[in-house]
Amino acid sequence: MRRPATIAPPQGKLGILTPGMGAVSTTLMAGVELIRQGAACPVGSLTQMGTIRLGKRTEARIPKIKDLVPLAGLGDLVFGGWDVYPDDANQAAVKAGVLDGKDLAKVQKFLKGIRPMKAAFDQNYVKNLQGTHVKEGKTKFDLAEQIREDIRNFKKKNKLDRLVMIWCASTEVFLKAEAVHQDMASFEKAMQSNHPAIAPSMLYAYAAISEGVPFANGAPNLTVDIPALENYAKSKHVPVGGKDFKTGQTLMKTVLAPAFKARMLGLHGWFSTNILGNRDGEVLDDPGSFKTKEESKLGALEYILQPQIYPALYDKFYHKVRINYYPPRGDNKEGWDNIDIFGWLGYPMQIKVDFLCRDSILAAPIVLDLALFLDLAHRSGMRGIQEWLSFYFKSPMCARELYPEHDLFIQLMKLKNTLRWMVGEELITHLGAEYYD
Ligand SMILES: NC(=O)c1ccc[n+]([C@@H]2O[C@H](COP(=O)([O-])OP(=O)(O)OC[C@H]3O[C@@H](n4cnc5c(N)ncnc54)[C@H](O)[C@@H]3O)[C@@H](O)[C@H]2O)c1
Repeated sequence: MRRPATIAPPQGKLGILTPGMGAVSTTLMAGVELIRQGAACPVGSLTQMGTIRLGKRTEARIPKIKDLVPLAGLGDLVFGGWDVYPDDANQAAVKAGVLDGKDLAKVQKFLKGIRPMKAAFDQNYVKNLQGTHVKEGKTKFDLAEQIREDIRNFKKKNKLDRLVMIWCASTEVFLKAEAVHQDMASFEKAMQSNHPAIAPSMLYAYAAISEGVPFANGAPNLTVDIPALENYAKSKHVPVGGKDFKTGQTLMKTVLAPAFKARMLGLHGWFSTNILGNRDGEVLDDPGSFKTKEESKLGALEYILQPQIYPALYDKFYHKVRINYYPPRGDNKEGWDNIDIFGWLGYPMQIKVDFLCRDSILAAPIVLDLALFLDLAHRSGMRGIQEWLSFYFKSPMCARELYPEHDLFIQLMKLKNTLRWMVGEELITHLGAEYYD
């Protein structure tokens, strides 16, 4: 990829469209509005709070990221979405139970104004939901056309300059890439013949790319991670990314596993279990949706630890991930990890992690950052898979000939070096030999 010669300025308004107006997306909308009111701080958002070192350490040039690259301002964001339930964003936020009544009261009017458009939905792909607010169409292609029309109408009605779309809807059942996903002609034919391999999330991704709207997938569904849509995105000059927001347990995993590998400590086993009681938990109670999530959560360790290179340390380690739906906890998930490691002479040790996290509080700033960075990438002429945004994903998409990079610190370095590269700043290697000459 060539370095962007110019980056178009973020003039006008940016629409953030989310298929799914549940816990994550309403926490994002409420949060951005609270921040705009000056009632909250954007904790957890790299685009809002992060800094970036430029040049040598002695130069003391450490601007905020948002001062280095031209990002859309929070004041210019407009939210919209689709859901299988007709609840406005206020009702959905109250049901999700993430934010307390005091915070919601400050943004009630704003949230009430955000009403979901009818969803492209099929219960065969999300067994534990019964949607009432859904589109009708003879074929999947018709549904995709309706989503395209929604996008155009939303843009016109809100006088938007640009749009991005982030999938914040439920996790669909597990699908593997097959023949109809390989090229656009087969994909379009499959939409027209209602082929079962075309999930609703793919219709949103297809519609977004067709309308020149960058798309990211916050769930582990296959969605845009298929050659047909990847190539389509490239041909339409649209940036895409995915999959599955990296929030609680996997965030910890991709911090701890690199530390073990860095110190050449071995691993016998890693058992991860969770309890959560939100709608996401209910959806994941279905074995089909859980399988999609499980695959996404299992990948990280294999790629980070590279057992094929370090068989003495990581051959045959046992890795298990469980998710248990437990309604009393709502969105306040608890994730436990029991890690059996071994050290010098093979002596065993154990580490226990008990993360009492808040799922949507961790996810909302990720959605904001992805929206702003995808818009930046688009204005910079970058297209196709944006691997530099792997930092935000449990199961990062990358070029077919590569393996995904899961190590959080390598991901952060890649993200920051990409920002430096975009604006023609020197890349940072951390060599530092010049200080000792
Ligand atoms: N919160 C986290 O930490 C986290 C981390 C990684 C991934 N995710 C994923 O993000 C997604 C959103 O999570 P959430 O907690 O907001 O879930 P949620 O259940 O609260 O919200 C999802 C919403 O999507 C709607 N929906 C389902 N299918 C749809 C369709 N085809 N079109 C439009 N709307 C549809 C549902 O009705 C629901 O309101 C889930 O897939 C979840 O697995 C969340």
